Amino acid sequence: MNRNIKKATEHVIQNEGLIFEKSSPGKAAFKLPELDVPEVDSRELLGASEREDLGNMPEVSEIEIIRHFTRLSTWNYGVDTGLYPLGSCTMKYNARINEVVARLDGLAGAHPYQPEKLSQGALLIMQILRKCLMEICGMEAITLQPAAGAHGELTGILLVRAYLQSKGNPRKKILIPDSAHGTNPATAAICGYAVENLKSNAGGMVDIASLEAQMNEDVAALMLTNPNTLGVFEQDIHKIADLVHAKGGLVYMDGANMNALVGKVRPGDFGVDVMHLNLHKTFSTPHGGGGPGSGPVACKKILEPFLPVPVVVSKADGTLGLEYNRPQSIGRVRAFYGNFGMHVRALAYIMANGCDGLVQTTEDAVLNANYIRKKLEGVYDLPYKTPSMHEVVFSDRLQTAKGVKTGDIAKRLIDYGFHPYTVSFPLIVHGALMIEPTESESREELDLFVDAMKSIAEEAEANPEVILTAPHSTRVTRLDEVTAARKPILRWKPKEKPVAEEVAAK
Ligand SMILES: Cc1ncc(COP(=O)(O)O)c(C=O)c1O
Repeated sequence: MNRNIKKATEHVIQNEGLIFEKSSPGKAAFKLPELDVPEVDSRELLGASEREDLGNMPEVSEIEIIRHFTRLSTWNYGVDTGLYPLGSCTMKYNARINEVVARLDGLAGAHPYQPEKLSQGALLIMQILRKCLMEICGMEAITLQPAAGAHGELTGILLVRAYLQSKGNPRKKILIPDSAHGTNPATAAICGYAVENLKSNAGGMVDIASLEAQMNEDVAALMLTNPNTLGVFEQDIHKIADLVHAKGGLVYMDGANMNALVGKVRPGDFGVDVMHLNLHKTFSTPHGGGGPGSGPVACKKILEPFLPVPVVVSKADGTLGLEYNRPQSIGRVRAFYGNFGMHVRALAYIMANGCDGLVQTTEDAVLNANYIRKKLEGVYDLPYKTPSMHEVVFSDRLQTAKGVKTGDIAKRLIDYGFHPYTVSFPLIVHGALMIEPTESESREELDLFVDAMKSIAEEAEANPEVILTAPHSTRVTRLDEVTAARKPILRWKPKEKPVAEEVAAK
């Protein structure tokens, strides 16, 4: 092992076949007592729906199953294992208090068809969360229904479209800066708008002159990621919003990076009309792979009539209810009320932190990103010098002379015991290394990461081959990513049994 590698040690990883490969006929993980009641023919119960051929099921003992999955679980790198610096994804620690609360019987077992009078607690959670999020965003209305950030974008732009149509002023275009998140143009296109690219200036912010030239009465909205994917706050946001509003357009803010702003500034105060939040980023609920996401959309009063139904409302008798009769609503965007379990977790996180805790969280997220920026500036090229917020974007320019690219550095980082950062994104930085440490990390962990990155930069000079062939410490070394993407093998198939003639010939 390289003496510079301080975090990772040799990990005991045992060879592991597929569970199907461990199978041997007749093995089982359970044993049932003899029947002491008359046997019922399952075909009588299930009729034609009974499946007789169960395919090739693994036959293994209980301990084999337990060991198999326990071993597999130790191969995973997660945020509970160490720093997960995936920029733009905000892989922050999912606080355990969230899980404790979400697993309470009354909440985990609540049924969406429960009558309102038996759902007052659940409705209150949604109502309090709505109020907290509106306060944080400086907005006047909100829906919790969307199930992810991109889904929130879709909902938000549908609100814009419905609003403009209601004014008899449908428009054709949406302006999107080149520093926006990739889901933004996809959303605008899905909503039927033409996407017009807006250039960034040398500081990585919206170029005001370009905006002035491109903003006209055909533009429905400007879709702005703020802070943008360079981790840069749009310093002219007031001016930007004024320019858009002056031509009758609306300002949509992709608020997925609100972890850089919570408790500091409120988008509603700087001219934003509608925005989404990623609860699975800013408010520490698990990400897609680890659980469903949630992308609430907050907006100004003018867009409220168009919100998806149902909306949680306070009734005259003091109870809470769900209102469906909203003739201008864009309709449902999701079954029932969104991912309620995520609402519970996000509210638990907000309440456990309190106002001062949320402000501290924002400050720590920004501090940690800037700590890494300061330590690695010069070791890696920093293309945009504008102050960083919650994430910092370097480029591989200094390493490419030796043939080492961002993807190679990321693979080598795995050998040092870290999850890679985000590779080659945002697109406006050639060979981007996008690093977001989040507030969860201690200085010790950040220092280990910085050491690893410095060590890799030294290796790029002295021994680029070790980087170009990394990772070396993993069970599976460098994959052919193009073949994996173009010809994925998504299903295990048993090895073909040799046909009788071939066996006879041998
Ligand atoms: C800035 C930004 N916008 C939008 C999204 C899309 O969110 P989701 O992946 O939940 O759809 C992300 C995802 O991380 C993001 O970082």
